[in-house]
Amino acid sequence: REAVSADIPAFRFDEIARGMDETHHVAEGYRADVLIRWGDPLFADSPVFDPANQTAEAQRRQFGYNNDFIGYVPLEADSEGRERALLCVNHEYTSTNIMLPGVAAGYPASMTRELCEIEMAAHGGSVVEIRKEDGVWKPVTDSYYNRRITADTTKMRVSGPAAGSPRLQTTEDPTGVVVSGTMNNCAGGITPWGTYLMAEENFNGNFLGELPENHPEAENHKRYGVPSGWYQWGRFFDRYDVSKEPNEPNRFGWIVEVDPTDPNHVPRKRTALGRFKHEGAESVVAPDGRVVVYSGDDQRFDYVYKFVTKGKFEPGNWTVNGDLLDEGTLYVARFDADGTVAWLPLVYGTGPLTEENGFASQADVLIETRRAGDLLGATPMDRPEDVEPNAKTGRVYVMLTNNDRRTEAQVDAANPRASNRFGHIIEIIEPEGDFTSETSRWEILVRCGDPSIAPVGALWNPLTTDNGWFASPDNCAIDPQGRLWVSTDGNEDSGAADGLWALETEGERRGTGRHFFRCPVGAEMCGPRFNETGEALFLAVQHPGDTDGATYEAPGTRWPDFQPAMPPRPSVVVVTKQGGGPIGG
Ligand code: FEO
Ligand code: CA
Ligand code: CA
Ligand code: CA
Repeated sequence: REAVSADIPAFRFDEIARGMDETHHVAEGYRADVLIRWGDPLFADSPVFDPANQTAEAQRRQFGYNNDFIGYVPLEADSEGRERALLCVNHEYTSTNIMLPGVAAGYPASMTRELCEIEMAAHGGSVVEIRKEDGVWKPVTDSYYNRRITADTTKMRVSGPAAGSPRLQTTEDPTGVVVSGTMNNCAGGITPWGTYLMAEENFNGNFLGELPENHPEAENHKRYGVPSGWYQWGRFFDRYDVSKEPNEPNRFGWIVEVDPTDPNHVPRKRTALGRFKHEGAESVVAPDGRVVVYSGDDQRFDYVYKFVTKGKFEPGNWTVNGDLLDEGTLYVARFDADGTVAWLPLVYGTGPLTEENGFASQADVLIETRRAGDLLGATPMDRPEDVEPNAKTGRVYVMLTNNDRRTEAQVDAANPRASNRFGHIIEIIEPEGDFTSETSRWEILVRCGDPSIAPVGALWNPLTTDNGWFASPDNCAIDPQGRLWVSTDGNEDSGAADGLWALETEGERRGTGRHFFRCPVGAEMCGPRFNETGEALFLAVQHPGDTDGATYEAPGTRWPDFQPAMPPRPSVVVVTKQGGGPIGG
């Protein structure tokens, strides 16, 4: 391995025990406070939350469902010297079975137009000001900045090479540049200039219907699994029915950029970053000033990408930074057995990306990013989730959550296990910290799962305790000291709750996991985001209580309220150290 390029300290905290019960647990010496819950007010006039009688109108004024990505944008302290920040939180999807009464028993027939509108209103994102009062972070419910972004009511502009493409035009928008809403916003990112990136992930599930026979979008839609019909929206709204609006799915699967400091900002769908099931969009400034955005396409056998801007970041210059994401080069990764990553440019007119293969423009290459990656020979991965650069070390961490469909014949160096139920983490080493490089190196940091069961094929540092290993890495965060933290979605398959683990990347402890936080039953752990001092850690508990067969009437837990009439509520938790100091020591 190359020499460590920064002094990364080890973690110092007593880990918690693996396990699973109705509530959350955090390491001793820390407190974990519920900061904001589904249904909590974002505005002075937000209706009081009444889950049994929820309406779309109320939901549009309340914190949304299934919080996933958390961004943290610091603001100047207020006149009383209190710390302030904006939290930017994605609401990925709805667990409608436990969210709304009476749905589970009769789904999908029981779904109505009104219930679908509640689902749409609960998707999207929230921007919420938070303030530290007497040592405790609290939402500010009448802040100028607070905003709800939804799947149906928030007008967005399409920008970059695919804007206005005939393939993005619909009855509602014959120009192909205006879209109402964003959905399936999984992870995301905060750019160096402080904007909020929302990654559109499993949009295929929101479409119903059948394309007209021999439709030119047939192959494209098939490659993205459109339509998957997980939601019933297409029964009541033509735009989600591909037999009526065959181009509508091409308007999703993008990275959406939002200025969280302007509640009236029109979000931009940045098509230069490609169209796929974007898990996230974490970015870093390269040594020459260009900005690099990493993104995984979360599907079995799909790819890892990076986007390199054409222009250079200029701190404080909004005129330059504001549209940096509209021009640049999108690359897809090929992981070679010799430890090299070849970043293959997706540029119209080069290699196989030509008319012969059905690409008439860069817009076509971007709309069909997956097919372009197929033709370039990118490496099919075990479900790429969060991909996060570490600016201190020039390394990049790729969460590969699992892939139970990989056969022995499909095993390769970067995806070394057949029927990979527990996932692994790859470390990419960018040469001399040059994140723009077209050639990098890679190695596997850990193979997840229980190291005491030989057939699992796990690989951990032997210093890892029985509580320190985990399965199905999904999100990750780099703390201000440069240390890696990993959260899981699917650890329950290995018999214990999802949660957050610290993971050593340096020295003789490299590859050692340590358990820090545990979710309540049924939940996955999302978010992880540190504030700029590392003294506050924001965690998203997503779909608590959504256990097998759970219903509104009988959820797996009633976390965090534990009131008989209150369903479980996805919530953001803030962790601080008792007596102060950085999280993790
Ligand atoms: Fe929404 Fe890839 O997890
Ligand atoms: Ca995820
Ligand atoms: Ca992350
Ligand atoms: Ca996931």
